[in-house]
Amino acid sequence: MKNLNDIAKYLLLTNKSLFKQNPKITGLQVDSRKVKPGDLFICISGYTVDGHDFVDQAIENGAVAILAEKDINRDDLPILYVKDTNQALSFLANYFYDFPSNKLHLIGVTGTNGKTSITYLLDEIFRFNQDKTALIGTIQMKIADQVYPIANTTPEASFLQKSFKQMVDQEIDHCMMEVSSHALELGRVNGCDFDMAIYTNLSQDHLDFHQTMDDYLKAKTRLFHQLGNKYDSKQPKYAIINRDDVYYSHFEQATSQRVVTYGINHEADFLAKNIKLTANGTSFILQTMDDQLEITTPLIGKFNVYNMLAAIAAANLSGVPLTNIKSALEQSKGVRGRFEAVKGTHDFGVIIDFAHTPDSLENVLTTIRSFAQGKVYLVVGCGGDRDRSKRPLMAEIGEKYADCTILTSDNPRSEDPLAIIADMEEGMTTDRYFIEVNRAKAIHQAIQLANKNDIVLIAGKGHETTQIIGNEKFPFDDYQVAQQAIDNKTCSET
Ligand SMILES: Nc1ncnc2c1ncn2[C@@H]1O[C@H](COP(=O)(O)OP(=O)(O)OP(=O)(O)O)[C@@H](O)[C@H]1O
Ligand SMILES: [Mg+2]
Repeated sequence: MKNLNDIAKYLLLTNKSLFKQNPKITGLQVDSRKVKPGDLFICISGYTVDGHDFVDQAIENGAVAILAEKDINRDDLPILYVKDTNQALSFLANYFYDFPSNKLHLIGVTGTNGKTSITYLLDEIFRFNQDKTALIGTIQMKIADQVYPIANTTPEASFLQKSFKQMVDQEIDHCMMEVSSHALELGRVNGCDFDMAIYTNLSQDHLDFHQTMDDYLKAKTRLFHQLGNKYDSKQPKYAIINRDDVYYSHFEQATSQRVVTYGINHEADFLAKNIKLTANGTSFILQTMDDQLEITTPLIGKFNVYNMLAAIAAANLSGVPLTNIKSALEQSKGVRGRFEAVKGTHDFGVIIDFAHTPDSLENVLTTIRSFAQGKVYLVVGCGGDRDRSKRPLMAEIGEKYADCTILTSDNPRSEDPLAIIADMEEGMTTDRYFIEVNRAKAIHQAIQLANKNDIVLIAGKGHETTQIIGNEKFPFDDYQVAQQAIDNKTCSET
């Protein structure tokens, strides 16, 4: 709890901004619907809504003061004006919760693909090592065994700092966090004291938000600047970078902390050799700075070797012995919706994968191609109100690697689903595809077509349990729909 005048001083507001009414602030809130009595309401000019329009509701719910960047026509409670509420919020949230990330071992993961996978692998490894973990990312936030739903991959600063505080109170040993480029650009993670920053790769995505790949690269780079310039012998900081990525030297130069590399094609501190990829798992020889051992795991695909290397490096530098890492990876359960095979006795394969960028779709399809004995069917769509330029590329990749592609809906949001599919269709040059706008029907049709040894890849939605059409969220789970389709098929065939 802080009082309003201390907050004003911390935000460098002049003496004139100090208030006679100096209420105690018991919480920070950016969502007017969630305001509780005693809260400071922060007006954020968001992507779709503007918090300044919801001041009345915030006050009705008990807000005792307002932080704003635009004029608020009220004189019945103190209003703090700043130039940029988003920026101010990260300063404020760090201060309000007493800089919790300084007391936490915080690992940030950035890059276009692999963030969720790496944070979950780290979770498995640390837990195997009997460490207490927390994670924040696309699927959920987890603190020890408690799971909390979150709206964005990287939540806004007040929720984030409050959660860090909770982690400190619960004596969490390591927090793994996906750091999206949006969050970096919007300053949501400003002030977070990262101990490790992991870079995976960069390929096309989010070009609706970042104007160019260069802007996107700059946003990702901020995580590495944020490792800071302080050296500490007890808890050294590390930049863990994919040596095989084209932007490797860019990220290497972005930090003054120790750089640790992982890779397959170049000499690296954590190197994978003799990689053997099969439909049931992967094995490789891990060579580290001072050791060598064989890793065997049920995780599938070369991209997962990269994810494992990143996780191995971070865990090992955090003090987990390689033998424990090896055992944890041997038992890995994988991540929901990431190359997840639908279980059952059917004689064809069905894989659910979150691939929603051209690069990740290509990785998943080439992996499937490397072991597929029959035909490959792909069910894929693209999200509405998001990067349009990737739509024809996704279709083109589908056509290149799949025997038949079914173009369908992802989360169309406010766009016409058929218009999104029409954008995708521009990438098609043959007739080895068809359109079924209803995602459930598309999945059923693909599974109907599959014969013995064929593989159906259902791409794009992974772990998601809803489909967003217009402004509404409908329950939808690729895994469940696929299971029903398999059941229907087996019933009708017997
Ligand atoms: N290292 C990798 N390189 C390329 N593709 C990958 C890699 N790891 C995972 N993928 C592919 O990308 C998809 C998304 O993986 P994951 O959820 O781990 O990425 P993410 O970075 O968290 O994505 P998002 O930004 O959407 O949260 C996977 O389903 C898989 O198809
Ligand atoms: Mg993610």
